[in-house]
Amino acid sequence: MSTPFWVAGKPVTRAETAVVRHSYDDSEAGTHAVPADADVEEAVAAAHAVRAEAAALPAHVRAGALDHVSRALTERAEEFAALITAESAKPIKWARAEVGRAASTFRWAAEEARRFAGELQRLDTDPGGTGRFALVRRVPRGPVLGITPFNFPLNLVAHKVAPAIAVGAPIVLKPAPATPLTALALGEVLAETGLPAGSWSVLPVGNDAAARLVTDPRLPVVSFTGSVPVGWGIRDAAPRKHVTLELGGNAAVIVAPDWPDLDFAAERIATFAMYQAGQSCISVQRVYAHADVFGELSERVVAKVRALGTGDPRSPRTDVGPLINTAAARRVESWIDEAVAAGARRDTGGGRHGATVAPTVLTHVPEDVSVQADEVFGPVVSVNRVASVDEALRLVNASRFGLQAGVFTRDLPTAFHASATLDVGGVVVGDVPSFRADQMPYGGVKDSGVGREGPAAAMTDLTEERVTVLTGLTL
Ligand code: SIN
Repeated sequence: MSTPFWVAGKPVTRAETAVVRHSYDDSEAGTHAVPADADVEEAVAAAHAVRAEAAALPAHVRAGALDHVSRALTERAEEFAALITAESAKPIKWARAEVGRAASTFRWAAEEARRFAGELQRLDTDPGGTGRFALVRRVPRGPVLGITPFNFPLNLVAHKVAPAIAVGAPIVLKPAPATPLTALALGEVLAETGLPAGSWSVLPVGNDAAARLVTDPRLPVVSFTGSVPVGWGIRDAAPRKHVTLELGGNAAVIVAPDWPDLDFAAERIATFAMYQAGQSCISVQRVYAHADVFGELSERVVAKVRALGTGDPRSPRTDVGPLINTAAARRVESWIDEAVAAGARRDTGGGRHGATVAPTVLTHVPEDVSVQADEVFGPVVSVNRVASVDEALRLVNASRFGLQAGVFTRDLPTAFHASATLDVGGVVVGDVPSFRADQMPYGGVKDSGVGREGPAAAMTDLTEERVTVLTGLTL
């Protein structure tokens, strides 16, 4: 039996199917039905047709649906975690964490839906506006096309679907071809909410169909998380649409000389450089350690990386599993080799077996090699020595990316200076850039994208102001 896809809230099966495989041992994670062109058309037409009804849904209906999803994910957490691990090869411990985060994302969207109200603006500040007020509300820009990546098959789907439901915008979701099963399972939960038909569809389609969806005028909003070239290509292909892009990064950490606990910093760096094999846009890729702490820090990072458990992602003892496929692992391996050929020192790691790359720490890495300048999306971290925090700030900003950065300091002026200077969407003081609470505004600058997610930020992004001028009032 193949897993159905979802058109306008209804499960659909078709003769054509696709198999999803586990990159650790090539076992079958599942099979799903593949939508035909007519299914895609039906989903888009339904989203377009239901847009006014969805926008008019009372807040208690939208919030109730979101609360239901949050509760159901909590109740079925183990099942969802196993599915995430089966299709993405994410270690089960991180898959469990992801399900918890997704439940929180839906819960936050429910809370925001209840308080999403608009504001009253007085207009009697000039004689011409006497007796007038403006009611400024936010209304959906229209149906949303959500496109999600493989690295968080549930929570990054939640970050598209939950805010859309919260504001009453229909959504057509296209999950990553490598990991569609979790999004399709989420469809089962969404189907229990009783939202109007057309409010949501989940279409595991390939890139051709996705390209047509991107330019379809009935989907005026595109929210994309994924690779840099595809993201900016979408923006170029649909210049009149409202496009939000959550793209890549080469997230950096600065370790200032005042930081008192190098063991903690090393533990966090090792863990979050390697979690889900580095396949997160905010995994730690570059570390700039002040000369006073570089030696001790780099030794501790190497020791902690060596202590990480590797192997089958289904084992609770595994910290670092394989990448999404062998091609990705080959690329990462070639980037490590490039860095070493350019003079970097490999302190641990570097080997590849199938889709698995051994957790790798490089030191003394030139700034212009791929592991430093591009997004590795693999279990590789570089640790470099800097003479001052200002040099580190300059090197962090020299990147074409700007998503999040971490600064290990206890010195308040240094923290504020870093926050003011770093050209990124978020600065985490006292921890790694990989920290993300799902209610936070999250997104990047420069090549890392445009717009912000996190339920409240995304709800603003998916809506536009509608002004109603009220006249003849005495307030
Ligand atoms: C991402 O890879 O962009 C998402 C990171 C996260 O949600 O933790």
